[in-house]
Amino acid sequence: MTGTERRGILLAGGTGTRLHPITQAVSKQLLPVFDKPMIYYPLTTLMLAGVRDVLVISTPHDLPLFRRLLADGRQWGLRIEYAEQAEPKGIAQALLIAEWFLQGARPVLILGDNLFYGGNLTGALAAASARNDGATIFAHRVRNAAEYGVVAFDSHGNPASIEEKPAVPKSQYAVTGLYFYDSRAVEIARTLKPSARGEVEITDVNRAYLDRGSLGVQLLGRGAAWLDTGTPESLLQAAQFVQTIEERQGLKIACPEEIAWRNGWIDDAQLTRLAELLPKTAYGRYLLDLLGEARS
Ligand code: TTP
Repeated sequence: MTGTERRGILLAGGTGTRLHPITQAVSKQLLPVFDKPMIYYPLTTLMLAGVRDVLVISTPHDLPLFRRLLADGRQWGLRIEYAEQAEPKGIAQALLIAEWFLQGARPVLILGDNLFYGGNLTGALAAASARNDGATIFAHRVRNAAEYGVVAFDSHGNPASIEEKPAVPKSQYAVTGLYFYDSRAVEIARTLKPSARGEVEITDVNRAYLDRGSLGVQLLGRGAAWLDTGTPESLLQAAQFVQTIEERQGLKIACPEEIAWRNGWIDDAQLTRLAELLPKTAYGRYLLDLLGEARS
């Protein structure tokens, strides 16, 4: 393993209390966002960043369901491994759980309930992924910044502070749930103490990079969409957003089969096989149409 390789960590545990009773029996990240399970969105964001090795972390109760859905990833040209988070003790805990999987590779961590969409997303992901030293996080303007990690900037546009759920936010820029780190991230996470709410905070990892002068913050502009799906309202809004774009364009957002095929990770024959596993669905027809279009 070289220190330059990227490996993905997809954190899909949590309690989903804001979605109770929907999530009392099933993981939030298995709920539908229009035509596919929520976890397809962050998974395909990793795929667009060129990541083929992914560790899915979830609760002991939900992990078997993720295995059933995603298997070993080979069907999409990936390698997917699984690990339990016994209790939701914070997002930064994912780095510690993933240590055996990373084996010194640089982690890219994504939250299982975050949906990214936007014109230049793939370019921004490639740039972040290529960076060898330090960290890159993404910030997006939101109306309700106090509910998120908030990053503020100095007059040169460099990050100046980062705070978790501040009562009085210093900016309107929320830190999104997508974090590219160098291989020191696990070491940094290990030094952290749980916060007042008993969680190992990812904001503390990011602040450690900021304090060393090695935190890059990429702004996702107003042409990009960053949606989270943690409440009934935001879940419905995300589904309607996906439906609107997909029906207008005739192209799917976050279709792992399509991305694997376009990346050259699976061939035409494999895409056909995957389509045939979804007979009588618009999803299966969509995959066959991709092949038809490419041939004509
Ligand atoms: P949150 O939305 O902060 O928490 P949650 O999903 O448990 O929901 P609620 O606040 O309604 O109780 O989590 C953001 C994402 O990170 C989500 O995909 C779940 C995941 N997560 C974990 O997997 N483990 C954790 O310890 C934490 C804090 C979050």
